[in-house]
Amino acid sequence: MNLDREKQLAAIEAVKYVKSGMTVGLGTGSTAAHMVKDLGRLVQNGLKIVGVPSSENTKKLAMELGIPLTTLEKTNGIDVYIDGADEFDPYMQLIKGGGGALLREKILTFNSDLVIIIADSQKEVKRLGDFKLPVETIPFATKKIEQSLQKMGLQPKLRVKNDENFVTDEGNFILDLNIGHISNIQLLETKLKQIPGVVETGLFLDMADIIIIGQGETTITLKK
Ligand code: A5P
Repeated sequence: MNLDREKQLAAIEAVKYVKSGMTVGLGTGSTAAHMVKDLGRLVQNGLKIVGVPSSENTKKLAMELGIPLTTLEKTNGIDVYIDGADEFDPYMQLIKGGGGALLREKILTFNSDLVIIIADSQKEVKRLGDFKLPVETIPFATKKIEQSLQKMGLQPKLRVKNDENFVTDEGNFILDLNIGHISNIQLLETKLKQIPGVVETGLFLDMADIIIIGQGETTITLKK
């Protein structure tokens, strides 16, 4: 199974929803990178779009490919947002943030008319929770949040990169939680968001309109 090929096929299929004149939200991660590359190719062939990147990494890639960019506050909203996911379930609920860009990703998702998730076949699960749930926290509160989450049995782990705390594009930390196959995911989201200093979680509930899955040499599309 060639997962990278599946990511690429899903990305190419998603890009078909993009038309000239659109403002396009650009996700982050290895799957989204395929989408950005395909858009770059189309822009070079005359497609007129403007992109809103969800991370500094995606911004860099899009600039290298010559995709015109803007920022969220300068747009009147985003026509279509395309991004990957770490897990999705049959109800099209998602865990995102493995790449650490979940805050900007969730803001762009919320402000988009159409949200398309692209994924390889391994991202599909019966129930969310095998993937550790990323939660973005402000550094000032992170230690206390960690203690609260520990008491809730969520086994928080401060994300580390190159022996240092991982810092997001917004200057925050990430705690990765072991949520297991929890039954009430909506309640978990509410509880997490009630903790002061929790900025955002990687649960993207009822946010995806379309999921395109690469499956071998073809794609499968799920719609809300
Ligand atoms: C970035 O913060 C994430 O939400 C990614 O979209 C997600 O982790 C999927 O990444 P890959 O496409 O690299 O698997």
